[in-house]
Amino acid sequence: MDLNPFERIIFTPQILNDKMTQIIYSLKTNIFTASICLLVIAVVLSSCREDKVPYPLDKLAQSERAMASTAHPLASDAGIRMIRLGGNAIDAAVAIHFALAVVYPRAGNIGGGGFMIIRMADSLTEALDFREVAPGAAHRDMYLDSLGNVRPQISREGAFSVGIPGSVKGLYTAHRRYGTLPWATLLQPAIELAEKGFRIDAREARRFNTTREQFIKYNGTDIPFVRSKAWKSGDLLLQQSLANTLKRIAQQGADGFYKGKTAAYIIETMQEHHGIVTLQDLEQYRAVWRKPIQTDYRGYTIYSMPPASSGGITLAQILKIIEPYELGKMPFHKWQHIHLMAEAEKLAYADRAEHLGDMDFYPVPIDSLLAENYLAAQASKISMDTARASDSIYAKSFYQDLESYETTHFSVVDTSGNAVSLTTTLNLNFGSKVFVKGAGFLLNDEMDDFSAKPGVPNYFGLIGNQANAIQPYKRMLSSMTPTIVEKDKELFLVVGTPGGSTIITTVAQIIINIIDFNMTLEEAVAAPRFHHQWLPEQITIEQDGFDSLTLQQLKSMGHAINTTQRIGLVDAVMQRGGMLIGVADRRGGDDVEGY
Ligand code: DON
Repeated sequence: MDLNPFERIIFTPQILNDKMTQIIYSLKTNIFTASICLLVIAVVLSSCREDKVPYPLDKLAQSERAMASTAHPLASDAGIRMIRLGGNAIDAAVAIHFALAVVYPRAGNIGGGGFMIIRMADSLTEALDFREVAPGAAHRDMYLDSLGNVRPQISREGAFSVGIPGSVKGLYTAHRRYGTLPWATLLQPAIELAEKGFRIDAREARRFNTTREQFIKYNGTDIPFVRSKAWKSGDLLLQQSLANTLKRIAQQGADGFYKGKTAAYIIETMQEHHGIVTLQDLEQYRAVWRKPIQTDYRGYTIYSMPPASSGGITLAQILKIIEPYELGKMPFHKWQHIHLMAEAEKLAYADRAEHLGDMDFYPVPIDSLLAENYLAAQASKISMDTARASDSIYAKSFYQDLESYETTHFSVVDTSGNAVSLTTTLNLNFGSKVFVKGAGFLLNDEMDDFSAKPGVPNYFGLIGNQANAIQPYKRMLSSMTPTIVEKDKELFLVVGTPGGSTIITTVAQIIINIIDFNMTLEEAVAAPRFHHQWLPEQITIEQDGFDSLTLQQLKSMGHAINTTQRIGLVDAVMQRGGMLIGVADRRGGDDVEGY
């Protein structure tokens, strides 16, 4: 398209030579038309801005030194800034987490919780559980009506859905053990982003616009995500109260959140909205160091999250159930591959529903669930001819939306080879939608991850039993699966993803794509994904990712096929031949930055 009419008039040599007089005349007479044209062009260009990202996104990076792969370029940048200052991966992770709380409010948070796997360069590997816990006044039947039916609305939105937040205590705890830079330095990028503001992209604008009514329902219009006109790409988001809260946390450590002014604001919000989190609940919150779930898979060692996340155990079960099969010899994404994995996933998710919950409250039989003979027996149950029927006892109507990415994961490796794999969330998009006025942040709706009633699915269609029943101060079962893989005692892969119940199978697929199908990290992340979680009884696939013959074959074996737009947003770092390769999922606004 010819965008500049003057270019043609002034610079065409033929016109210059032969028609000079005509041009001058034309310029004079057409000056009005030209101005109109320019105006139209300006309007067209400004409307096109909607689709433009205000920051360049890097999806693939390579470096010998350090790498951060996160959900937002400003967060990747915050992490790499800490590494440039001489900080390590834990320092970078803290800076990234706080930056995400500012620039990615749908999932980045200080009002939520998460899990991290840390692997130090000397190979010491630890898991930190900073999952939310149920308030002291919570009880098993708190989401049931007088007839004993579940009221999903109140476990998914509003102050009654809020668990005691764990993120700030988690980051502070990790920093106290492993951090090297001063705590306040790590909060600086987030404080600046909140105080000076940052330009939102089209995705964020869309999310603010579509969540507007819910924000207003719970908070009125006086919150930074609501304004009178629609948001668009490039608009500036300022969050002064959040900046003030971050400054209190910078100065006072975790007490800047769990005590004093911030805590008072949280309690005020609870009282105004009939929530049950108390000051005492906030003060008693502790993050817990745990031993990661360690699994050997075809010569690689995988470290992932133990309960209160189901991620590590369920991932380990899936991998060990398929290990006896020569998966790498099966044609990629043909019926054999998909069927085998779906059958393994069903078996693992059935165990998840029955046996997994907060192990501080329930005796999770970890050793039995991961015992070699048990998993070999599970593997032998798989028929390669037909789909096994899921137990129909629990087959109820399932409320499910797999196209949600409200959690966020990041992977970071520093110049010494220390690594952090961290997944964090408010649960659903913007959590409970309840905003702590005065303190500037959203609270989670993590209580929905408990089993409100045996056999009744939560938002992600996951069911549970006694193991995941609500109890005061218990952690609700999660699927978050931050994972680190070693090869020959060296760091190999740092990986994780959002995606609710699909998190575990997404991580499994990345590992399998690399180990069994010899893919590069970029290929492994780009490959279309599929998922089975026992109930509902179906394989969910990413649309357009699988050929119709394969789907026909799977259907003829008894599999129901359900299509979704996308599954997961993987941000990962791999180490190969002394080089770090970072990949950010092309499915979202994710970004990787090397140093
Ligand atoms: O902990 C869990 O498993 C869920 N609260 C995670 C929620 C999630 O991943 C939302 N969307 N991506």
